[in-house]
Parts: sequence; C-alpha cells; structure tokens
Amino acid sequence: MCGIVGYTGPKEAYPILIKGLKRLEYRGYDSAGIALLNSAGLNIYKKKGKVADLEEFIIGKNTHGNTGIGHTRWATHGEPSDRNAHPHRSAGGKLAMIHNGIIENYNQLKQELLNKGYSLQSDTDTEVLLNFIEEIKNKNQCSLEEAVRIALKRVTGAYVILILDEENPDTILAARKGSPLVIGIGKGEHFLGSDASPMLEYTREVVYVNDYELAIVKPDELILKNLGNETITPFVQKLDMELAAIEKGGYQHFMLKEIHEQPHTLYDCFRGRLDAEAGLITMSGVQQYADELVHAKRIIMVGCGTSWHAALVAEYLFEELCRVPVEVEYASEFRYRNPVIRQGDIVVAISQSGETADTLVAIEKAREQGAIIFGVVNVVGSSISRITHAGAYTHAGPEIGVASTKAYTAQLSVLTMMALNIARMKNTISEENFLHLLKELQQIPEKVSWTLQHNQHIKDMAQKYKNAKDFLYLGRNLNFPTALEGALKLKEISYIHASGYPAGEMKHGPIALVDEHLPVVFIATKDKVHDKIISNMQEIKARKGRLLAVITEGDTATKEICEDTMVVPEADERVAPILNVVPLQLLAYHIGVAKGYDVDKPRNLAKSVTVE
Ligand code: AGP
Repeated sequence: MCGIVGYTGPKEAYPILIKGLKRLEYRGYDSAGIALLNSAGLNIYKKKGKVADLEEFIIGKNTHGNTGIGHTRWATHGEPSDRNAHPHRSAGGKLAMIHNGIIENYNQLKQELLNKGYSLQSDTDTEVLLNFIEEIKNKNQCSLEEAVRIALKRVTGAYVILILDEENPDTILAARKGSPLVIGIGKGEHFLGSDASPMLEYTREVVYVNDYELAIVKPDELILKNLGNETITPFVQKLDMELAAIEKGGYQHFMLKEIHEQPHTLYDCFRGRLDAEAGLITMSGVQQYADELVHAKRIIMVGCGTSWHAALVAEYLFEELCRVPVEVEYASEFRYRNPVIRQGDIVVAISQSGETADTLVAIEKAREQGAIIFGVVNVVGSSISRITHAGAYTHAGPEIGVASTKAYTAQLSVLTMMALNIARMKNTISEENFLHLLKELQQIPEKVSWTLQHNQHIKDMAQKYKNAKDFLYLGRNLNFPTALEGALKLKEISYIHASGYPAGEMKHGPIALVDEHLPVVFIATKDKVHDKIISNMQEIKARKGRLLAVITEGDTATKEICEDTMVVPEADERVAPILNVVPLQLLAYHIGVAKGYDVDKPRNLAKSVTVE
C-alpha cells in the first residue's frame, strides 16, 4: 500500500509527480503529498483525500523545483489527515521523507527520540524513522547516506523510503526492504516509483531495486549500494508495458475496462502455451521443475482474497486431474502457524500484484523449510516473481481497479493449464479428456466475449437490487469459489454485506437468513451437481427468498424458477469458473455505480497490500 514517486533531472518535477501519483493512486488514497526542492529550499504540500484534492490545494503555490518526491497514502499509523500525510519534514527542517511500509519497532525508536527531547508532529512511524535518521546524522556528524545505513540496521518491518535533503538539492536517497521500488533511467534524469507507471512516457529502461539496497539518485548518476556500503552494478531491464494499458480508454472506470478486456487477456494468457490443434500445453516454468511437480506428494496453494479463491478452484482441478493432495491456505494464516512442510512439497503462491506482504512472508517461510515455490503472478518483476523458484505469469496486463477481475480469470486459466500439463506428464488424464479440455479452454475467450454482450441486462438488474442490505451467493463444487468471489466483489464495490457459501451447507445455518428481502445468487450452470443446485434453489424459493442465478444459455427450466438470471454459454464444468464469474463481476460493478460509489477506489482498500 501507499504509492511513492520521485524525479530528479532538468524538467520541472511537479507535473511529473502529480501525474505519477494519479497512476499510483490504486495503492492508497487516504491522503497525498509532494516535496519539491529548489534554490529557496524545501516546499512541502500535503492534504487529506485524493490526489485531485492535493492538486486543488496546490493551485497558486510555488511548485518550482527540478527534484521532488510524492506520496499517496493508505493509512497504517495514524488516521487519514493533513498532519499524518507524507512527506514528513525532520525536526531540523532540512530533510523530507516519504515511506511505503510499516516500521514495526517504531515505538521503541520513538521512545528513544522522546527521551532525547524530540517532539513529533504526526502519529506516523515514518516521522519517527526520519527523525531517527536525522538524530544519527547529527550525532555522528556523518553523511545522510551513512546515517540511513546505520538507521536501517536498527529497523524491523518493511519500507521503501525516499529522502530529500536541502544540502544536496539534486539528489534523492532511496532504500528498500519488502516494498517495491523501480528506478527509471532517462537522459540526464531519473524517475522513481512503486511501479513503472509514472515513468512510462519518459523511459523504457528500469532497475528494480532489491531488498536491503540503497540508491543515491542524481540527474546523471545512479549509485546502488547494499547496507554494507558495497557498490552494486544496477541490472537494467527493458519495460514491456504500454501507456494505453494504464489508461481508461473511454470506459467510465478501470474496473469496467478490465472486465471487458478479459477476452483479450485470456487470449494473451493462452498464447504460446496452449495449442489445442496440436494437443499441446507448453509452460516453461512447469518444464523446469517437471520432475518435482510430477513426484510431489502434496501441493500447498497460498494467496489472499481473490487470489485465494483462484487457489480454491485449482484445488478441485489438481486433485481431479493430477491426483495429488492439495491444501489451500490463507497466506496470512499460514505464516503464523507452524505448518508441516516436507522436503519436496510444492508451494504455489498466487498473487496479482506480486507484492502482497502476507503471501511474500508465507513463501519465505516455506522456502526456509525446503519447499519448492512456484509463482502464479501478474506483475512482471514483482517481489514474489523474484523469490520463487519458477512460475508462470498470468499476462493480464496492469490491473488498476482495486477489485480484481481480469487478473482472477487469468489466474484460473494459468492454474488450469498447469493442472493439465502436470496431469499429462503424470498420465493421470486420458488423451481424450486432455484434448477435450484444451479445446474447451481455447474457446473460453470467445465465450467470455459473448457473456459481456449481456452487460446492459445486468446493469438493469443492478437498479432493481441496489438497495438490498444483504446478499447470499451459493455454488457447489468448482463454483463454490465462484460464489465466494462474487460475494467479495459485491462487498468491495457496493459496501453491501454479502456471504459466499457452498450451496449444500446452506441448510446447516445460513438458510435462517432467508426471507422475502434477501437476494440469493446461485451459480446454477449445467454441470454434474446441477440437480442438487436446483433442489437448493427450490428450498430458497419455498422460503420466499429472491432467486437470482447464473445459468447456461437455453436452460429455460432454471430460468423459470428465478426472479432474474444472467446467462453464459455452455462450457465444461472444469473451465466454467473462468466464465461464470464474469456476470458476477458486472453485477457488483453496476450495483456499486448505481449506488454512486467510486468503484475503482473503494473505501478503506488499496490494490497492493504490502502491510501485514
Ligand atoms: C480483490 O478484489 C481484492 N482487492 C483483494 O482481495 C486481492 O485479491 C488480495 O489483496 C490479494 O492481492 P494479490 O493478488 O495482489 O496478492
């Protein structure tokens, strides 16, 4: 969480920083701020609210400066307010700092500062760290760089920090542990960001800074060091991201754009991997660890939120197709247990951002205990993609809307291909079944496209249900996770309470909630449990619940018992979760919009959860 941006070079920094912050706003939008250096010194502007509020606040103020840093915040320590917004200024007045992450031992550091007579202006861990650095600099009469090195050795937690110093007006000092930092290399200028989006129109050359590295960034020089003060040669990589991918392209919201992009993102995900005509799946990451994957006694899947739902779908697929036991774990729980991991266990870590703190730590823990880690990640070059042994990118492109949509369907596609690939190597799938599923997968982008044509119908439905106080989502088998995902989307975007449940469990408790006001959304497409689902629907109807369902095209019998339906084309049940979630994404989106909410930036959330 929190987006950070920086610039040093011959241009005016302010417009670059503001534009960069708008692109990083998906990471947090509780407050925003900017620090600019010019010959007169340091100007800091910050404001509670979104970047647009900051921009309005700055109108008419001095924004001159060729070096600057900017921050968009997701609050951890201290409520969202002007006072707690970043950048923070040091007590001595010459340093300004922004921070993404959490300083876990900040209380201890704070106490040390208070004992020395410091008084703090905010409730943040960031201001504590900044003054701790300044205190070391003053006490040791050393450079800022040296002071940062000493201070960071005392710090526990996660951080990316960017510091400006009035005494070095063209330099940004940056350091990272656990939160992402990208440095863009221009001609006589450098850009810094939580991701590469703020620098896309200026450079294609970037350096992904690693944990425990410190960067001294000047217009025409980039020095990278470790905390032991040894110089490191920066590894320059070429950016493979287009500007259009991070713009709305005519859609009202990123979320709607991303839902509609799915036929293309799924196609991109299959390209070069799935060849139904030749009967082939080629996944280089799987090939690399083929032996280990084939002989794995157990696969543990970890993730959070939507990525955890993808893991649940994969559990059904891997167990059925590969005949291997699968455990699905919330990364946030897994890491604090004392999980039994044996040599040769495979851990599959699933993450859109590749930066989720809980997932990162879970991986580290499993790795220490000898597991092989396979990543299913969307963001290329992200932290998770770099600490796994092997993996497969989902190729969904940048996902900006906080509610995950296209990344989820791409995760399901990658995991399905993985299961098929491993099953074939293990001989746990018949040739006929394998070829049939390849064809089914290949047809998915087209079927998603067909489903999206019913957008207007779902928009109309949204008007009807927008005032409901609660929703229940029910599904069985592979569509139980679809029910969970549908409910999560609605909660996130519309702030309506929604629960996802296995349809068969309904009678063990949740059925008590059913009355004539409760919309119950069934995932009732044609599959082997269809009859059971119909019985569950009748049970709801008998208690006057409002029946909604995702149904298979042409299933008039199911349509007749529902108040409203959302239609998808027929698909094999093992690939159907990729398709069935699409109408539920649209339903959540349209209800959120109908209620007047900012669906791309739902309250209290952030896209990339880099705190525990
Ligand atoms: C999805 O709509 C959510 N915003 C959230 O649950 C998300 O899936 C979760 O935070 C995990 O993120 P990751 O995939 O980037 O690791």
